[in-house]
Amino acid sequence: MSTLKKPILTQDLTSDIRNYLGSEFEHVAVHSIEVADCAAALVERFGGDREAAKQAGLLHDISVVVPNEEKILLAQQLGIDICEEERQVPMLSHQKLSRYMAKELFRIEDSSVLSAIECHTTLKRNPSKMDQLVFLADKIKWDQGGEPPYLTKLESALNHSLEEASLVYIDYLLSNDILVIHPWLAQARTALIQQRRS
Ligand SMILES: [Fe+2]
Ligand SMILES: [Fe+2]
Repeated sequence: MSTLKKPILTQDLTSDIRNYLGSEFEHVAVHSIEVADCAAALVERFGGDREAAKQAGLLHDISVVVPNEEKILLAQQLGIDICEEERQVPMLSHQKLSRYMAKELFRIEDSSVLSAIECHTTLKRNPSKMDQLVFLADKIKWDQGGEPPYLTKLESALNHSLEEASLVYIDYLLSNDILVIHPWLAQARTALIQQRRS
């Protein structure tokens, strides 16, 4: 059972995260910095709090330090609600664990930052602008190497709205063989379609 290592906190969140992730997870630190920069660029375009977007991007995958096979047990011990789909695919719980770590270990208090971290993989019912900015930044700067197959479509949808762009990614996911459909993803899709109509 892993216990969560405490970070050394300075005034510089980027270096705190680099130090915390260490050489083992340097690729995640690099990805997180790219997501933070992309989220900040999306704030320039769509409005919002630049600093909040950066913090959420930097911390969104911080729970990578917890091995997938330990995530569910740890989440339960920490009192985090886990759904059946997360039990089936434990990686899906990493967004909730990252939120916990951002709040309890990195002392993030801004609820908009914590919310965006918590749903960066699946979005959720009635996602906020910040939720979508961070979700989309994570998809634009994906961590799989090469260019994401949905990128061109997503970027052209961004010329219309955040909602359209979020739906492009969700529909891409649903058209591929994903292992389970997280309930938050389905709820987000319904809400985004309604927002698009209104
Ligand atoms: Fe993630
Ligand atoms: Fe990520």
